[in-house]
Amino acid sequence: MTSVPASTALPASPPAVPRDDAPAVLGALLSRRSGWPLAAPAPSDDELGQILDTALRAPDHGDLRPWRLVVVRGAARDALGDAFVQAAIGRGEDAASAERFRRKALAAPVIVALGARVVEGHKIPVEEQLLTVGAGAMNMLNAIHALGYGGFWSTGANGHDPRVAAALGLRAPDRLLGFLYIGTAQQPSTTAPRPDRRDHVREWSGPAA
Ligand SMILES: Cc1cc2nc3c(=O)[nH]c(=O)nc-3n(C[C@H](O)[C@H](O)[C@H](O)COP(=O)(O)O)c2cc1C
Repeated sequence: MTSVPASTALPASPPAVPRDDAPAVLGALLSRRSGWPLAAPAPSDDELGQILDTALRAPDHGDLRPWRLVVVRGAARDALGDAFVQAAIGRGEDAASAERFRRKALAAPVIVALGARVVEGHKIPVEEQLLTVGAGAMNMLNAIHALGYGGFWSTGANGHDPRVAAALGLRAPDRLLGFLYIGTAQQPSTTAPRPDRRDHVREWSGPAA
């Protein structure tokens, strides 16, 4: 696996999801859970290409195309582990304690660093640009789940560290927003109850009196 597959071409006129398929699509969205720890098998190159393409379908105000995704897999994960350890030392940790971050880079067969190219001072606020990358990450998590794999979105101390960002080639105006870990979950997802819609949604019918 030497290169990330090319982007899937958009059909001239994308068909809507066939009505019969809607329950399956919604079922996938509603059943997604994060998986951890993650191991082989990883998505194939074609599957990974599709997963990455879903990030690029996130809404993007102003067509700024802020996604800067960096795929780390195979032996490159060892180098990422080095970067994690060096970053922790840079944050003031002693070398022995910083070593614990090395295994984080090996916690899944594929890691996608979530980079964002931010345009400061643009009429599209930075928050919206970052949301576009976050929405892309969410699309990827759903695609990972739909394909039968496990995913986990993680930041932690290294997820925002500019030292790690620089090691990944993300230099200002690019920012590192965290990582998506991708593989196959090694244990069933937790069955913790999901939030209740009634606790998070209300209908507004006009200004409060
Ligand atoms: C931006 C972001 C960063 C996160 N970083 C971490 C993290 O560093 N460590 C962690 O245990 N969970 C982190 N999480 C939470 C997990 O990704 C996950 O959502 C959580 O374990 C709940 O699992 P669920 O997705 O099945 O609800 C993060 C979530 C988001 C959205």
